[in-house]
Amino acid sequence: MSTENLRNGPDILTIRGLTVSFSGFRAISDVDLDVKEGEIHVIIGPNGAGKSTLMDLITGKTKATEGDILFKGEEITSKDPGVIASKYHIGRKFQGPNVFDNMTVFENIEIALGGYTSIPKAFAYRRRAEQKSKIEDVLRQINLYDQRDMMASELAHGQRQWLEIGMVIAQSPELIILDEPAAGMTDTETYKTGQMIKELAKEHTLIVIEHDMEFVEQIADYVTVLHQGRKLAEGPFSEVKNNKKVIQVYLKDDMDEEGD
Ligand SMILES: Nc1ncnc2c1ncn2[C@@H]1O[C@H](COP(=O)(O)OP(=O)(O)OP(=O)(O)O)[C@@H](O)[C@H]1O
Ligand SMILES: [Mg+2]
Repeated sequence: MSTENLRNGPDILTIRGLTVSFSGFRAISDVDLDVKEGEIHVIIGPNGAGKSTLMDLITGKTKATEGDILFKGEEITSKDPGVIASKYHIGRKFQGPNVFDNMTVFENIEIALGGYTSIPKAFAYRRRAEQKSKIEDVLRQINLYDQRDMMASELAHGQRQWLEIGMVIAQSPELIILDEPAAGMTDTETYKTGQMIKELAKEHTLIVIEHDMEFVEQIADYVTVLHQGRKLAEGPFSEVKNNKKVIQVYLKDDMDEEGD
């Protein structure tokens, strides 16, 4: 679907006046955000802009000081992380890998799926077959089907990141949040991750935090720029990349780094 059509569609997430203060410091300040069903919504912004904190607020890890977060029109602002994940089907991959090293790739996905529940023996076989086929589907989606019996510790860095994406999608989320999914990847891995995300967008809505502008251009339907806890700009990537305020913030950031 085109960006314009998506933007005219319903919100999956509506954020209004969102603010969080950490002992007086406003890490997120009066932010409004609309995430449309089915879009890939990329959040960019310099280090410390508040991107991860915004995701902490959406997933209930951090409680808002002020403002509202609605999932399909329903208030989720002060709900517990477990409820937000299981009842509202919001799944999140954190910045940096979190896989079980001493298990196989297959087992990692199996654990994420919810693993072994106690069910009557007569159903167990069928259930196991269904579960196996679901795990295999996920493994194909993340390009790790051939590596399914490898230990997670043997995977390349990029593959570990994919495994983590798999652990998120195994939980059948409607909204998937990925915090810097291509961090530390080679160019080839980054491109493949972008294609993977675009495939996922056929069945899910995604919020992706990213720094690599080429990658943002590859995947984004819509971009929101955060700076010092506030929304600086939003729009399709083609507009945002030419926005004067955005250019200024990124140039300043680069010059600060050179000065270090
Ligand atoms: N729990 C907390 N307590 C105090 N300050 C915090 C807390 N969480 C985040 N901050 C501060 O809020 C600001 C925003 O941090 P955040 O991690 O959201 O930035 P970011 O945009 O994700 O940056 P990066 O690109 O480096 O990942 C930072 O100044 C950070 O130090
Ligand atoms: Mg961050």
